This record gives sequence, structure tokens and C-alpha cells, in this order.
Amino acid sequence: MSEDFTLDPELCHLNHAAVGPWPRRTAEVVARFAEENAHAGSLAYPQWLEVEQRLRERLARLIGAVSPADIALAKNTSEALSVIAHGIVWRDGQNIVGIQQEFPSNRIVWESLATQGVEWRGLDLDASSDPEADLMALCDDETRLLAVSWVQYASGRRLDLERLGTYCRAKGILFCVDAIQGLGVLPCDVQRFQTDFLVADGHKWLLGPEGLALLYVRPELRETLTLRQFGWHMVEQVGDFDQVDWVPAESARRFECGSPNLLGIHALEASLSLIEELGPETIWTRVQECTNHLIEAIDRRGFELLTPSDPALRAGIISFRVPDRSAEPLYRALMQRKVLCACRGGGIRFSPHFHTPLSVIDRAMEILDEILAAPPAS
Ligand SMILES: Cc1ncc(COP(=O)(O)O)c(C=O)c1O
Repeated sequence: MSEDFTLDPELCHLNHAAVGPWPRRTAEVVARFAEENAHAGSLAYPQWLEVEQRLRERLARLIGAVSPADIALAKNTSEALSVIAHGIVWRDGQNIVGIQQEFPSNRIVWESLATQGVEWRGLDLDASSDPEADLMALCDDETRLLAVSWVQYASGRRLDLERLGTYCRAKGILFCVDAIQGLGVLPCDVQRFQTDFLVADGHKWLLGPEGLALLYVRPELRETLTLRQFGWHMVEQVGDFDQVDWVPAESARRFECGSPNLLGIHALEASLSLIEELGPETIWTRVQECTNHLIEAIDRRGFELLTPSDPALRAGIISFRVPDRSAEPLYRALMQRKVLCACRGGGIRFSPHFHTPLSVIDRAMEILDEILAAPPAS
């Protein structure tokens, strides 16, 4: 699996929860696309559109959607969430239930609806031993939407989507999932989870470029969303520029107003071809091998694990704290020694993926040992 990547052997890449590296095949596809543009312009445009269609098909299979027509391509997760937030027709006094510790886009987007009289209620995840039950307890008769990340970006805590989805469907509450920290690591099935909306950018665990995201809207809800962006690409008769009358596309393309990001589409399609070849079960098994190994190394050193140790409650993110040491300087020292990681939620966040050799995890921990053993800089 590591042969599918061309990472610098001196680098310990443990940062898929921020920006993942491109597989070799993705880099090659992008180089070929650049060459093609430089030499033949857009002569192959019809073939480029075939790649776009293949990407929608791959994304539909990845999330268990009924059809590629249910997949819209957005710029990023935040845009996709905004399409949903400002597409739903709200009634004054309604509320949205979420989590206080969420990544900002999963709070700010919903808070932006305050001007429409909509309240966002955040559960304090740190004070909850059963977040699914506590999220449900925050809902009332005025709750219109439950909006959560599948996996929390800082702690790596994973939610039971099936449990939440079943509750929401029974109560008539819309269910929106930011899947960016889970998709590409865990098997996903929007039908089993009963998600109404699912969004994810492609640049983390999907190993694609920044600037291209998946927006899934359950087909039965598509027409209930008010459209806020308009252009040539979102109409049913796309490409018929002489047509004066128009209607929004029946498919999820109605959420895409203008020219597609074909460079990004080529890249993400190539990355997903690798993910599909391996399959979600193989990937999840391999990620667990990495994360279990990492947790053992953290425990052995007496560090404080901030991520739940139960594999059912986590995905690929492992965050930890070193007692009596603040995380920020340690993070900076690790980055200086080419351990690519992040500082989140007051801890160090390591996020290995299926292609990460265990030796890379061992080396990163040894480098951390050396940093901790070194006398503090005067
Ligand atoms: C949970 C979550 N949502 C969204 C994003 C990124 O949002 P966007 O795709 O809009 O840049 C991140 C990035 O760290 C994230 O962790």
C-alpha cells in the first residue's frame, strides 16, 4: 500500500485529518491533465466530462447513495453545509441541535441562521458520557435539524450515525452529517444511517485535492431546498445556450451553478480509484492496526489519550497530551523534525491512514521521546 505513495522517506506523515497526501496515480493524472491542457487545450472536453461522471459514480458507491444523480460537487464542506442551511425553509422559533466542540464550519453555518429566528443548540461533548442520548435529549418539538460531524476533528470521537439517524427519522427531524473525518476510513451507508444530508471535502482521508467536496441530499428532499446560486450549469438543459426558458436540473446538479472544477475532478477520481480498489473494510482494518499501535505507544509512555480507546468510538484520529507539557511547543518541535501532525483541542493529533507503515508511527514516537528528553531551550 505504501508503494502507491511517493512520500519523502524522512517524513512521518500523520496528518490525514488536516490534508492528506496524494497517491502516486493522482499526481500522475494531474501531470497528464496539465500536459494535455498545454498541448491540446480542451479538445478532450467530452472525455473530461466522462471523468466527472465516473467521480459521481464512485462517490455514490462510497456513501451507498441510490444514484450518481444524488451527488453534487461543491467547493468545500463549508459551502455544501451553507447550501443546506440556507436552502431549508425555516420557521421562526425552530432550532438546530449540534455539538459545542465542533469544527467551526459546523457551528458558524448554523449560527448564521439566527437572523431568521433559528436557534443553534450545542451539546458540551466533554461533559457527556453518552453523546447520542444527550443530543436526542436536546431536541424538542421545535427541532428541525440535527447537524453533527461523524468524527470530531479534535478528539477523534466518532458518533453512532445509525442510532442518531433512526431517532431523527422517527421524530421527523432532518439529519445532516459532516463526514469529512470519517469518509475514506470507515464504511459509509447513507441509507443505513438514514442521513438526509452528507457532506465531505476530498482533501483529507479521500486523498484528493482541496477545493472539491461531496454534497449528498436525499433525493426526496432535493426539491424542498430553496436554491441560492444560479447559472448555466444548474439547469436541466445544460449546454443548450439558446434555450431561453429554464428549470433547475432534476438531479443534484441543480446545486452546481457554474463550470466544474475539472482539474480537481481528475485528481479526486484517481484517488478514489485507489480507495475503491482496496475497499472500505480493508482500509478500516488497516487504519485500526495503525491506531491500535499508536495507542499502545501512547499508553506505554504514560501519555494521556484524548481519543476514546474503544475502536467503535473512533476512526483515524488519535489525540493525546503529554503530562505537564503544553502541546503547542511539542507540536512545533515535531514539525521541525518532519513529523507532520497537528495541534488540536489542547493535544497533539496524529492521524495515520491505511498506507502508513507502523515503522513511521514508531519513528514519530521516538522523535517525540528525543524532544521530551532534550533540555528546554534557554
Ligand atoms: C469536521 C470538519 N469539517 C470541515 C472541515 C473543512 O471544511 P472545508 O472543507 O470547508 O474547508 C474540517 C477541516 O479540518 C473538519 O475537520
